[in-house]
Amino acid sequence: MSRVSPADVEQVTCIGAGVIGGGWVSYFLARGYRVVAWDPAPNAEERLRHLVNAAWPALTELGLAEGASIDNLTVAPTLAEACAGADFVQESAPEDLDLKRTLLADISAVTPEGVVISSSTSGYGMSEMATKADHADRLVVGHPFNPPYLIPLVEVVGGEDTSTDVVEWTSEFFTLAGKSVIKMSREVPGFVANRLQEALWREALHMVENGEATVEEIDLSITDGPGLRWALQGPMLTFHLAGGQGGMAHMLDHFGPSLLSPWTRLDAPELTPELRDAVVEGCEREADGRSIDDLVAERDRGVIAILRATGRA
Ligand SMILES: NC(=O)c1ccc[n+]([C@@H]2O[C@H](COP(=O)([O-])OP(=O)(O)OC[C@H]3O[C@@H](n4cnc5c(N)ncnc54)[C@H](O)[C@@H]3O)[C@@H](O)[C@H]2O)c1
Repeated sequence: MSRVSPADVEQVTCIGAGVIGGGWVSYFLARGYRVVAWDPAPNAEERLRHLVNAAWPALTELGLAEGASIDNLTVAPTLAEACAGADFVQESAPEDLDLKRTLLADISAVTPEGVVISSSTSGYGMSEMATKADHADRLVVGHPFNPPYLIPLVEVVGGEDTSTDVVEWTSEFFTLAGKSVIKMSREVPGFVANRLQEALWREALHMVENGEATVEEIDLSITDGPGLRWALQGPMLTFHLAGGQGGMAHMLDHFGPSLLSPWTRLDAPELTPELRDAVVEGCEREADGRSIDDLVAERDRGVIAILRATGRA
C-alpha cells in the first residue's frame, strides 16, 4: 500500500480546476507541495494559471512555505497521468451526483493503492457518491470554503465504507497543511457550515422574492451587522454575550419564546426566472462596475486583514 504518513505527502493531485480546484491548487502550491492538476475543459490550463496568479499575491502576503513556487504546478494531459504519482487527491469537479460517482470510480481506478481521495462536494454524502468505486474505504469528503486558499475551514467526513483511519489521516493531513479541520463523526446533509449558510441563503431569496429587502440590503445586513461578530465568535458565543451577565441561560429564557414566532420560512422558494434575474441584477448593481477579479482582490485583502486582526495569520 502506498499511503505515506500525512507529514510525508509531497505530491497533491487536484482533479477539476475551476473556482475551488484552482483555489486548492494555489493553496497547496503555497504550502510547498508539488501539485499536479487535471481538468477536461479545453482551456483548463489557461484558466487555472489565471486563478493561481490571482491568488498568489494574497498567499505571498501571508507567507509562502519554504520551496513554494508556482513552478511546482504541472497540468497533466490525462486523469491517469495526474493520479499516477499522487500522495493525496482532492476532487473538485461540478456538483452533479452522477458525474461524481463516475469520476470518483475513475480516479480510484488510476490512483495508487491506499492513497486517500477527498471530494470538495458541497453537500453530497460520500455514501451516495462512492457507489461505483472499488476501494471506497479511501474515499472521504474534504469540504472547503471559497476561497480555499484563504478560508481555513475544511469539514472532513467519511461515508459508510470509508475507513476510520482515512478520516483520521485526512484530518491530520489538512491540519499539517495549515487548515482548520472539523472532523465529523457521521454524515449530515450539508455538513455543518453549509447547513447554516443554506438557512440564511433561503431566507435571503425569500426576502428578495417578496420585495422585503434588496440584494444590497441583505449584504449590508450581514457585513455591517452579525458578520463582523461571526469572524470572532460564532453564533453560539455571540448569543452568550447577548444575554449580558446572565449569558446564554438568560438569552434563552429571555428570547426563547420568540423562537415560536414565524419569522423564518426555511423551505427554499421556487427559483423562478424572475427571482434569478432580480438576484443577478442586484449583484451587478452592488458590484458597481467592479469585475470579478477586482472583487476577488478586494475580498482577499479584507480576509487577510481579518485573519491578522484575529491572530489567525
Ligand atoms: N464554489 C464554491 O463556493 C464551493 C465551495 C465549496 C465546495 N464547492 C464544491 O467544489 C466543487 C467544484 O465547484 P466549483 O465551484 O469549483 O465549480 P466550477 O464550475 O468553478 O469548476 C468545476 C471544474 O470541473 C471541471 N470538470 C467538468 N467535468 C469534469 C470531470 N468529469 N472531471 C474533472 N473535472 C471536471 C470543469 O471544467 C471546471 O473547471 C463542487 O463539488 C462544489 O460543490 C464549491
